[in-house]
Amino acid sequence: MRILAIESSHDDTSIAVYENKKVLHEITWSQTEFHKKFGGTVPEYAARKHAVSICQVLVEIEKEIDLKTIERVAYTEKPGLIGSLNVGKVFAHALAYSLNVPIDPVHHMHGHIFSAFFKGDAKFPAIALMTSGGHTQLWKIDSPFEKDIKVIGTTKDDAIGEVFDKVARKLKLGFPGGPIIDKLAQKGENTINFKINITNDFDFSFSGIKTKVINYIHKQNQTNKEIVLEDLAKSFQDAIFEPLIEKTKMAIEEFKPKTLILGGGVSANTQLRSEFEKLHENTLIPDMKYTTDNASMIAIASDIMNSYKG
Ligand code: KG4
Ligand code: ZN
Repeated sequence: MRILAIESSHDDTSIAVYENKKVLHEITWSQTEFHKKFGGTVPEYAARKHAVSICQVLVEIEKEIDLKTIERVAYTEKPGLIGSLNVGKVFAHALAYSLNVPIDPVHHMHGHIFSAFFKGDAKFPAIALMTSGGHTQLWKIDSPFEKDIKVIGTTKDDAIGEVFDKVARKLKLGFPGGPIIDKLAQKGENTINFKINITNDFDFSFSGIKTKVINYIHKQNQTNKEIVLEDLAKSFQDAIFEPLIEKTKMAIEEFKPKTLILGGGVSANTQLRSEFEKLHENTLIPDMKYTTDNASMIAIASDIMNSYKG
């Protein structure tokens, strides 16, 4: 089944053409540079930019792929920025109608989960740790049927990527903060205690760590003391990854998964990838290019979820 997939939930306009677990072509136009000056994505600008770029991205795709060969159109239905999602939805529907092929709305987080399947097949039940700019969730997947894919824990306040971005903004390091903090942490030592108590359930809360880091930055600034960025980054990462790792261990203990999956933008993080890999003998961690938002993950989710026979 040859699938054309569209992802436009946040600030990337991405179209991929996919067949049999292979990406035939993918083009992603990122708006990150544009939104940098605001310190974060401005939803109204994002939607307007998608509306302009989505046609241009399809024109680029058409240079390589004959659209008459497309057998299904998949698109990100939810969750995400409503204006941005709508651009993708309307465009996908118009394209499917004009090609006379079926249309498949895909959940963005299912895309992140199945992005790891480019690396290999999972055995079920599987547990997936999803870590993005909008979500931090543990999922239990009993099969690729939609009814068998369930959230078992979620963040009660900030998403993990959001905290990386907020800490980086407070330190005036730039946007998005995740990759910058990742690099700094690799050269740092854990010298500051930002750790929080870990609750005995599958939910997450990161506002405590965020407040501790921001208070520390204020205190150092007010007393004219130096902030060693590398050490702050390493201490912050140790504190924020601890609940992720510990709660994944709890889920392994309780559900005895046969595969462990990592996904979402923060799964690009060097330390998280290395700590996660050690948790289970069968881990699926997406290639770097599939950690952040992309249309290929929407295509593979649509393929696996629709072709699974049980
Ligand atoms: O999944 P994603 O591309 O978009 C959403 O759906 O939210 O995730 C974006 C998030 C941003 O918060 C960014 O700072 C974070 O992923 N991120 C990272 C790294 N690369 C991206 N966080 C930590 N370490 C990284 N290397
Ligand atoms: Zn995402």
